[in-house]
Amino acid sequence: PARRPADLVIFGGTGDLAMRKLIPALYHCDRDGLLPSGTRVIAMSRSGLGDADYRDKVRAEVSVPGATPDDWRRFLTRLHHVSVDISAGVSAGGTNAGTGWDHLTALLTGGEERDRVFYLASPPMTFGPFCRGLGAAGLVTPASRVVLEKPLGRDLASAQRINDEVGEIFSESQIFRIDHYLGKETVQNLLVLRFANAFLEPIWNSLWIDHVQITVAETVGTPGRRGYYDHAGALRDMVQNHLLQLLCLVAMEPPSRNDREAIRDEKVKVLQALRPISGTEADRFTVRGQYTAGHVGGCAVPGYLDEPGSTPPTEASGRVETFAAIRAEVKNWRWAGVPFYLRTGKRMPFRHSEIVVRFKDVPHSIFPGGSPNRLVLRLQPSEGIELHLMAKEPGAGEVALRPVPLSLSFGQAFQGRVPEAYERLLMDVLTGNPTLFMRRDEVEAAWQWIDPILATWETAGTPPEPYPAGTAGPDGARELLGRSGRTWHEEE
Ligand code: BG6
Repeated sequence: PARRPADLVIFGGTGDLAMRKLIPALYHCDRDGLLPSGTRVIAMSRSGLGDADYRDKVRAEVSVPGATPDDWRRFLTRLHHVSVDISAGVSAGGTNAGTGWDHLTALLTGGEERDRVFYLASPPMTFGPFCRGLGAAGLVTPASRVVLEKPLGRDLASAQRINDEVGEIFSESQIFRIDHYLGKETVQNLLVLRFANAFLEPIWNSLWIDHVQITVAETVGTPGRRGYYDHAGALRDMVQNHLLQLLCLVAMEPPSRNDREAIRDEKVKVLQALRPISGTEADRFTVRGQYTAGHVGGCAVPGYLDEPGSTPPTEASGRVETFAAIRAEVKNWRWAGVPFYLRTGKRMPFRHSEIVVRFKDVPHSIFPGGSPNRLVLRLQPSEGIELHLMAKEPGAGEVALRPVPLSLSFGQAFQGRVPEAYERLLMDVLTGNPTLFMRRDEVEAAWQWIDPILATWETAGTPPEPYPAGTAGPDGARELLGRSGRTWHEEE
């Protein structure tokens, strides 16, 4: 639990992220007794709501399975809402009366002393202005922290600019750059699996591993998100952060300590060792797709360009990718020659995130029909680990082999509810532990690798390859592996 009460101020407090993830996560933290009494959640938005309206809105829109009325009642009293025209307030110099900043200042500075956490769940271009506003209003103390949602910028230059702007007000140790994938239980378990068990390390290298697949497939589309998604796309929205972080955890060297800097140092080295992909190589090693109308889970769904939304499609909509696949390589002693296939897409036929480590075949087989071992780390929908081993099919005839999974389901092995990633990460912010957050050099190294791919895609004369919703991405994704005789895990 956090030791001292805090004020958690959420910019974008009525937004999608706050309502879908942050508020439910905070509810659970409260119910589990992790929030000291006196801790308040202050949502900021332009909506004009008062505290009571905001509490009603949360009660009506946020659903938490198993929540009891008593828990809700207690949690709702922690919620406050400050209505603010944030941009006007900032340009006017912070605390001007009537802008809402004055209200926030009064709320934060009166009464008992609390830690302050400012959570920027708003578009990245607002990060600099908001931080300046907080600085101008005198609301940042040495004990304050700021949380920055991803994607941080839209390329290396904008990420550096934002980091500089935020850095004028907050020191690096006060800045928590969130990537919620790092809060998922299986993702943290990956470090334990690798570094608390002896048997994997000797075979965790190019001598024994043929390739690695990292897939984050979603069935959801992008309804109502065009304004954001047209300018993001799968590469910025998912690959630059979530998929590269997963790659880092698979590929990093053992850190000498379980310590914030030691772990992040090793991750940065992986990002720096990624082989750059640009120009004609981007055509060979990357695939981008956009979904067209199709069926997901038996329901007809529109294509990306026909998704309902507040803004009509533009030229940018036609060029944006909702699917990306990349053949990456980590150029170091351990991984030389081992492809890391990264893949993510919206409106895929299944929702699953998984890391598949495909081992090499046995050097000499005395049985017909074997297939190489696979280690599958399932991040969602159900978290677990499977090791696919070859076994003999029971029977008296010819020896026949079949892969059988040795399976660990976290749900079964560990009783109780598995906390959501945001619960863990919010508590880490409140207790001041930055280990699972990205350091500036990590974010920038990731952009450095992504930038040339983006540049090639953005200057390409062709739109992304279409794929019908409910299929596993465009044909190019299959070819990306097929060229070297490999297949995606679900097709094996
Ligand atoms: C977010 C992306 O970071 O992650 C979304 O912006 C995506 O586009 C989401 O849907 C996926 O998160 P999860 O935890 O549901 O896999």
